[in-house]
Amino acid sequence: MANDLPNSTSVIRGVGSYLPTEVVDNLKLSEKVNTSDEWITTRTGIKERRIASENEATSDLAFHAAQNALLDSGFTAQDIDLIIVATITPDMAFPSTACLIQHKLGIPKVACFDIEAACSGFLYALDIADGMLSSKRYKCALVVGAEKLSSIMDWEDRTTCVLFGDGAGAAILTSGGGGYQLIGFKSGADGSNPTLLHQPAGGSLQPASHDSLMNRGHFLKMNGREIFKSAVRVMERASRGLLAENGYTQNDVDHVIPHQANARIVESLSQRLEIPLGKFFCNLDKYGNTSAASIPIALDEARRASILKKGQLGLLVAFGAGLTWSAVLVRF
Ligand code: ACO
Repeated sequence: MANDLPNSTSVIRGVGSYLPTEVVDNLKLSEKVNTSDEWITTRTGIKERRIASENEATSDLAFHAAQNALLDSGFTAQDIDLIIVATITPDMAFPSTACLIQHKLGIPKVACFDIEAACSGFLYALDIADGMLSSKRYKCALVVGAEKLSSIMDWEDRTTCVLFGDGAGAAILTSGGGGYQLIGFKSGADGSNPTLLHQPAGGSLQPASHDSLMNRGHFLKMNGREIFKSAVRVMERASRGLLAENGYTQNDVDHVIPHQANARIVESLSQRLEIPLGKFFCNLDKYGNTSAASIPIALDEARRASILKKGQLGLLVAFGAGLTWSAVLVRF
């Protein structure tokens, strides 16, 4: 057991999440997509996902998650002086979703911005918030991971549309105080193969056009096999590196909250890290892959289920398009 000498003073003071009400199970999905409950379950572990309504945007999901996190923390909207939203499905390219939820929450004129690191986004945002809080120029951060992935799903591509869902999770952070103590961070990326997982059109390279629409370029595209292999490798490396840098081994970890992409990825990670599967918290069967929202939703569910005991060590670890990765150590 290592000495607890945290290189961070940031504490998660409260967490919250929000899931849209519409549940789409595999059976219902197979009515409009050429797939089956058996295929999706055996390949991914996903049984159902939530789909936001047409008039519900990412900022609406983020708003509800933030409200729940505020409630859990005991802070009010007026206490927040920094808002960071991690998302790949912002309401619009600009202004940022962070600005939109600032207004919805009635938070006064504070710093607001979005970050984009795909499924690693929430952990990247914790890393950034920690740096900004430790500068002492900010006191109380709202960090949100929120996605309406159904807005970029190609419902004619069965290799991707069965995997993803909508949702949001949020955390309130301060420097010091009672809560989940952040201990260390390890974020990285490999941008050498960006088309493994991407949304080709809609940016400056391929602005929206008749052709981009006809080519279905505004939808998410993925090479699932390659992502699978890279995901396990980079999450193992980030986790081992982070544990070693902070004087821990895998035996010290009480809980792993991994990015909720695929049960088989989680099983492979458990084997590679030599951390029993029973220590991994999973809810991907209910929500599928909600990208930047997946870890804060899982963290909030684990908290509400009273699984995370005071003093236990948690490892949060994610991978995403980029390819990005990030791992965070937490003392619950
Ligand atoms: N239903 C039925 N059959 C399907 C479906 C489906 N939904 N999708 C694919 N198939 C078929 C394929 O057509 C193929 O058939 P064929 O052999 O006749 O050609 C067969 O199933 C096998 O397809 P593969 O793609 O080889 O299936 P694989 O075992 O690799 O599983 C999967 C695919 C589940 C996508 C897997 O590769 C995976 O999980 N990869 C990781 C993806 C991931 O986690 N992405 C999230 C990234 S995070 C982020 O930043 C968003």
